[in-house]
Amino acid sequence: MSELSADPSRRAFLVGVCGAALLGAGLGSALLAGDAVAATGIRRKKNGQVVVTVAKVPSLQATGGRALLGTVKGTPVAVVREADGSFAALNLACTHQGVTVNPDAAGWLCPAHGSKFALDGAMERGPATTNLAAYPSRWDVRRGTLTVG
Ligand code: FES
Repeated sequence: MSELSADPSRRAFLVGVCGAALLGAGLGSALLAGDAVAATGIRRKKNGQVVVTVAKVPSLQATGGRALLGTVKGTPVAVVREADGSFAALNLACTHQGVTVNPDAAGWLCPAHGSKFALDGAMERGPATTNLAAYPSRWDVRRGTLTVG
């Protein structure tokens, strides 16, 4: 189940400029403006890295879940839970011309020219010709954290 479910508790964790953010139709680009703000399980370090404590982020508990981090060191980033249960950070800058993609029901949609990407960033429809890029991250198995940036 994705965070786009009707369950409002799954939406409340998301990060926005004022710490209040929702995922839903048409809201994605607004959520990604500005720096990430701490939400349950997500905190920004002084060096600009963002640490995601996966167990505390409701949307990351199920395969296909995601959490928008806002910008990390100037790059729009999300964390996704992949089919194998691992977590990955994704650069949300469209690989066509760099516009920030928005979440949609099954992945990511670019508002500029309509490129579509799967949840894991795989390009599904152009004009983009390449996948969304991975963003540097490091998994700490002992802490259950993903450090992004
Ligand atoms: S910038 Fe995304 S499709 Fe053109």
